[in-house]
Amino acid sequence: MIKITYLGHASFQVTADGTHILIDPYLNGNPAAPFKPEEAQADYILVTHGHGDHIGDTVAIAKRTGATAVSNAEISRWLSAQGVATHGMHIGGGHQFSFGYAKLTHALHGSSLPDGSYGGNPGGFLLKLRDGKNFYFAGDTGLFGDMRLIGDEGLTAAFIPIGDNYTMGPDDALKAVEFLRPKLVVPMHYDTFAVIEQDVGAWKARVEAETGVAVRVMASGDTLEF
Ligand code: NI
Ligand code: MN
Repeated sequence: MIKITYLGHASFQVTADGTHILIDPYLNGNPAAPFKPEEAQADYILVTHGHGDHIGDTVAIAKRTGATAVSNAEISRWLSAQGVATHGMHIGGGHQFSFGYAKLTHALHGSSLPDGSYGGNPGGFLLKLRDGKNFYFAGDTGLFGDMRLIGDEGLTAAFIPIGDNYTMGPDDALKAVEFLRPKLVVPMHYDTFAVIEQDVGAWKARVEAETGVAVRVMASGDTLEF
């Protein structure tokens, strides 16, 4: 059983056969976070890029739980220096973890860390979990044509930003759905701040009408089961 819970903004908790995986755990400062960092369970923490609304509470959660942080080499080094257990990788590379295969995908964005350190290139994650269930977490990104290649993997679900300003907006995110061809798409990275407010209901209606892909709008705390 795979469960994916939305934690607001671009944060998710994936539970795969009892292994807890946090993705971009931004809880402190996230107005929609359903629980505090002190309450988070984690065996692994996947960090797409260095920005504060993604690396979030990684250091505190990893130190308390002993979770391994998985990210690019630069962010891994920065986390290691703060006493976090890490697994560094890089774009295009994947690794077989206890929970499944995780591949670092590319993203069009920035990745500076909260203290201004260089955070390498931003990314996303393609998770290949058991029974051929594949999940794509895009991270913060603009639209790119190689999303077609990620779609070739056969996606059970894709989690993509729609907020505009910092990432793809609604129009490009619709194009991304055409490229990714997932069975289900979940919009994220919208409404957290005024500058990324979107009419998610209108986006859902357009995407479903124009692409035939089901859109699931998740409220913070909602869980999908696969
Ligand atoms: Ni960002
Ligand atoms: Mn962001």
